[in-house]
Amino acid sequence: MEVKLLLDEFSGLNFLLLFTKMLFIFNFLFSPLSTPALICIVTFGTAIFMWLINRPQSVLPPVDLNNQSVEIEEGARKSPRQESNDLICYYFSDAKTAYEIFQRGLAVSDNGPCLGYRKPNEPYRWLSYKQVSDRAEYLGSCLLHKGHKPSPDQFIGIFAQNRPEWIISELACYTYSMVAVPLYDTLGAEAIIYIVNKADITTVICDTLQKASILIENVEKGLTPDLKMIIIMDPFDDDLKQRGEKSGIEILSLFDAENLGKENFRKPVPPRPEDLSIICFTSGTTGDPKGAMITHQNIVSNTAAFLKFMEGSFQPTPEDITISYLPLAHMFERIVQAVVYSCGAKVGFFQGDIRLLPDDMKALKPTVFPTVPRLLNRVYDKVQNEARTPLKKFLLNLAVAIKFSEVKRGVIRRDSIWDKLIFGKIQASLGGKVRFLITGAAPISSPVLTFFRAAMGCSVYEAYGQTECTAGCTLTSPGDWTSGHVGVPLPCNYVKLEDVADMNYFSVNNEGEICVKGVNVFKGYLKDPEKTEEALDKDGWLHTGDIGCWLPNGTLKIIDRKKNIFKLAQGEYIAPEKIENIYTRSRPVSQIFVHGESLRSSLVGVVVPDPDVLPSFAAKLGVEGSLEELCQNQVVKEAILEDLQKIGKESGLKSFEQVKSIFLHPEPFSIENGLLTPTMKAKRGELSKYFQTQINSLYENIQE
Ligand SMILES: *[C@@H]1O[C@H](CO)[C@@H](O)[C@H](O)[C@H]1NC(C)=O
Ligand SMILES: *[C@@H]1O[C@H](CO)[C@@H](O)[C@H](O)[C@H]1NC(C)=O
Repeated sequence: MEVKLLLDEFSGLNFLLLFTKMLFIFNFLFSPLSTPALICIVTFGTAIFMWLINRPQSVLPPVDLNNQSVEIEEGARKSPRQESNDLICYYFSDAKTAYEIFQRGLAVSDNGPCLGYRKPNEPYRWLSYKQVSDRAEYLGSCLLHKGHKPSPDQFIGIFAQNRPEWIISELACYTYSMVAVPLYDTLGAEAIIYIVNKADITTVICDTLQKASILIENVEKGLTPDLKMIIIMDPFDDDLKQRGEKSGIEILSLFDAENLGKENFRKPVPPRPEDLSIICFTSGTTGDPKGAMITHQNIVSNTAAFLKFMEGSFQPTPEDITISYLPLAHMFERIVQAVVYSCGAKVGFFQGDIRLLPDDMKALKPTVFPTVPRLLNRVYDKVQNEARTPLKKFLLNLAVAIKFSEVKRGVIRRDSIWDKLIFGKIQASLGGKVRFLITGAAPISSPVLTFFRAAMGCSVYEAYGQTECTAGCTLTSPGDWTSGHVGVPLPCNYVKLEDVADMNYFSVNNEGEICVKGVNVFKGYLKDPEKTEEALDKDGWLHTGDIGCWLPNGTLKIIDRKKNIFKLAQGEYIAPEKIENIYTRSRPVSQIFVHGESLRSSLVGVVVPDPDVLPSFAAKLGVEGSLEELCQNQVVKEAILEDLQKIGKESGLKSFEQVKSIFLHPEPFSIENGLLTPTMKAKRGELSKYFQTQINSLYENIQE
């Protein structure tokens, strides 16, 4: 290891010497050329030279990239990694429930480090697998001691940010066949009350005093009369305890709860694969949240399918580390962690502040990095903005092109000269050790995906799915580094496309609504047969509401969304999300909401400009000012509208699909201001309501 490092240093030094020498010679030969041009030529020449003497080995993909999924009956497709038509239920025969997955991690890591946490500016500290398992048993014993039964009809609320105690609480439930019900702030105050009542929750384990206080207040107001016990992770004082007791709620510290469980220890009562494990409440774009019922088998099959799919390309070892910062209450993060635990690897938690994530990444040096497009977009924009001079832009684009052409040939590395010169900083900002990156939860644009595949020097995958199929139902194949699709079905489910006649999508044309059937498909929404019936048909197919198409090489591409369509006055159907996806490619645009009404014949939009781009965009128009001032400026507005319409036209939008007028809003749509769902989708109803006045005046100013 050290020798290799030394060699790296050496070749870096060598390169520098070579570089200076060549610069000198070139200067002599081509003195009329400008220095930047010279640097380009020399860099390019040196790169080719270095590459020739240092040509890396490529790795062949394990599947035929021209034939990536296999058709079975009814037009449904399956993964080529499934030998028979049987779907995978588990990968390791000793890990068929989430409880057994953890116990397997304990065994294969030989009680290695499991959960890491840190205080500001301190190194990570670790709890071992056995410590976590023991504490879960104590906490679970305490719950039983307090009257809960070891049975999957017992729902325990967990109301906390990502931290080790979250996992301990969840595992406490699983160890005694109880069910975890995550509560999270972003759902809003109303939703917390709704969930506590809907799931008949009598005990909540929460992290902070503030959250405990919210829960107590709900009881005081008579909104959640059945809540009887709150276990708090952080220290608290007697006042809170007394306040709770006045309303008949027992307040217990996690520390005391574990001690109580230790004194009243009960033997684990592990769940069966078919038992419920977690109720994952998801917010729709309208109405109350829906509690997706997920079994142990759902979790295990999704985890297993991932491992099977990645066979020969990636499997975590106890040395691997992932960073936990995506909400634990969402299934994407749950499955990432299930994969990690089943292989005995480690999970380090961020400090709880997303702004400190880069610092945490540097301290933790994760090897497995689950992420979402929002975060990657931010890094991408930053890098693009920093490359301000034409020379820097040129070098950046050249580096991406050269690195990506290597990636396409199966060469994934971070020891090339481009990594040293250009990408090293980006890699270092993510800890410098990432070997597996997966993005999910929302669509990612091709340039961003390609950029990270070139820049990170590690495998970058995109997954697609939703809570109702546990987390993922398709994944990009190892070795397929093309973008613009979401890969192929995982071996735990089939995927088919169903006709949507009124939108002109037909399965005979390989287009239609994406439907999923398999071991990872959920059991329905808690106490909500109506919504369950909308999601799951009588043959067990989950209807995702997304419109997809099969590409000739068997990969799936998401092209539209079924639900959010409406008719304009002239009778044309509009799919606003499709239009928004196109418009967000406009450089000065960060977010856009496209609005239309069946009584109007044209569309209008609310645009949130990108604060990093807008000033320079406006400066080119000769306009300066604060973000708010720029948003009010007519010239800026017209220029953005023009750019949108140009991009729309290039992307094939019909004229009635183009916005005719826009309003510029300086403040982003966010989960906090209630305009996005926790999964970052636009809450269309809320947005229309919020911008009603602006929308009305937009319509007043256009002649329809
Ligand atoms: C694709 O692969 C499947 C088996 O994996 C095979 O049956 C089929 O013939 C292949 N199709 C083509 C066009 O090669
Ligand atoms: C699969 O097909 C799509 C569309 O034809 C194309 O963009 C993509 O590059 C193909 N993937 C591979 C790995 O050839």
